[in-house]
Amino acid sequence: MLLPETKHLINADTFAKAKRGFTLINTSRGGLVDSEALLSALRDGTVGAAGLDVYEEESEWFYEDRSDVTRQNKTLSLLVSLPNVIVTSHQAFLTHEALANIATTTLKNLDDYTLRARRSKTKSATAALARAARRAATVRVAPTAVAIELERKLTMNAIIALILSATGFAVLFAAIWILHRPLDVHSCPKAGVRFTHRVLEWILTAWAFVLFWQVYCLFSSTQTADTPSDALSVIAQRTSVRRYDQTRNVSDEAVETLLRAAMSAPTALNLQPWEFVAVRDKNTLAALAGANRFGAMIAQASVAIVVCGDTIQGVKGTPNKWWMLDCSAATENMLLAATAQGLGAVWTAVYPHEDRVAAVRRILAIPERYMPLCVVPIGYPADPSAKPKDKWKPERIHKEKF
Ligand SMILES: Cc1cc2nc3c(=O)[nH]c(=O)nc-3n(C[C@H](O)[C@H](O)[C@H](O)COP(=O)(O)O)c2cc1C
Repeated sequence: MLLPETKHLINADTFAKAKRGFTLINTSRGGLVDSEALLSALRDGTVGAAGLDVYEEESEWFYEDRSDVTRQNKTLSLLVSLPNVIVTSHQAFLTHEALANIATTTLKNLDDYTLRARRSKTKSATAALARAARRAATVRVAPTAVAIELERKLTMNAIIALILSATGFAVLFAAIWILHRPLDVHSCPKAGVRFTHRVLEWILTAWAFVLFWQVYCLFSSTQTADTPSDALSVIAQRTSVRRYDQTRNVSDEAVETLLRAAMSAPTALNLQPWEFVAVRDKNTLAALAGANRFGAMIAQASVAIVVCGDTIQGVKGTPNKWWMLDCSAATENMLLAATAQGLGAVWTAVYPHEDRVAAVRRILAIPERYMPLCVVPIGYPADPSAKPKDKWKPERIHKEKF
């Protein structure tokens, strides 16, 4: 960041201490580097090469085509004239990652600001503005918004190209039809006419292939467009939901989607050691709720899915020591799939509480070999505006070693 203290942080003294011939890349702030000192260091070989995406007082020289301006910034002109210097006029930020980070950080700042204002009951115009800006932003997380906007533009371009292409195809087809239909072209004695017709037919055939290819590209791009970004959005929005709208039922289709997501989870040795019990019966739900003193919400759910692990490896008959890990991955997938469908769910623990395991086993008649891991009650959230907790703690991340 450029502050009075960081201005010319990289200067003649710094260059003097650096290893000779090093390459300087500045994508941060132009003012951090003393440009005059850099020029000298480049000339005497202290700096081997420089890549400058930013430059001091860049706004006067970047962002517009200034090639016809005679008054030039002398240092910048000299820097640009050197063969070992490249100036990219602030383009380094134009990447998916950088734009997504900018958008995410902006939204996070807005969230933090509005949260602080709400906690301190501040009612300033700025707080209202921040709230309005946050509301105006898409409900998806920022990378999604950026990616989707890009995808939308690309798809629009592809559609326009397809329409133009199809129009051209139709025109050519009509031209051939109108010009050559009256003649019996193939038996026409004029070789020139026959040849022209053949060529036009080849062009038309090639054009048809291009059209098919364009349609294929359009469909394949629209199918994959949102997928990774949507996943991030869903992960960011998931939260434990313990109160459900009693007027709405979760459909069988939605439950199947949840189970498909669960069974998409990775498993050790691909053993897929799981069984799922979907419960809708109110009495059974109440009984399951009674089995966990932190599970009262199960009784209110539209449906609950009980995830059970197979503790025995199928063919070998030996204990499967990964069942809990595999079933946990399946459960998390299910929670995410619930969020993705606008549903609310929460993981309520059964295993490793022996009393809960015994009770759930009895209620659902689960055979000894299978271990109930958890009960996931699902319903439409009573409060759809409930926000996920912010658990991002960069201090928990260690680089290279703990
Ligand atoms: C293994 C496990 C067991 C849990 N058991 C319960 C439970 O019995 N009752 C409950 O209300 N929530 C339970 N939870 C949900 C946690 O309380 C919740 O995930 C945690 O407070 C973080 O909140 P979040 O899910 O909204 O991010 C459990 C979560 C996990 C992963």
